Amino acid sequence: MTNRRDILKTALILPAAIAGSQLTSAFGKSAPKDLPKGIYYTKENPGKWSKKVKSHAPLVSMKDGNITLETVHGMSEQHFIVRHTLVTDAGEVVGEKTFYPSDEQAISTFKIPANVKTLYATSFCNKHDLWIVEVTV
Ligand SMILES: [Fe+2]
Repeated sequence: MTNRRDILKTALILPAAIAGSQLTSAFGKSAPKDLPKGIYYTKENPGKWSKKVKSHAPLVSMKDGNITLETVHGMSEQHFIVRHTLVTDAGEVVGEKTFYPSDEQAISTFKIPANVKTLYATSFCNKHDLWIVEVTV
């Protein structure tokens, strides 16, 4: 069984590492150029998790200058959403929220930064890896 601390480390380090890479080429709708398959998943490229798209790709809504991410996924001690992050196309972290199995839902809300046209929302499941959704503001 994977140690919870290791899961949290991965959830914290991986999105930051990806944010530091060339996001625009890595997260386009085509296959990533900078990273090998299997590091992150998208609706367009769900890889081995093709049956998990609806429960892992974060839903995104915007209202009154805020953006809300929701991963429609159960939350239990064995299987839960660990973390959301929101990153600009320049690699700046807008916000991040860590979840715990005791949380009822994986929902986070952040203020949309000024002068940003593209954001990347991430959701990390302890069993089904990192998912990324590109958002046009
Ligand atoms: Fe999952």
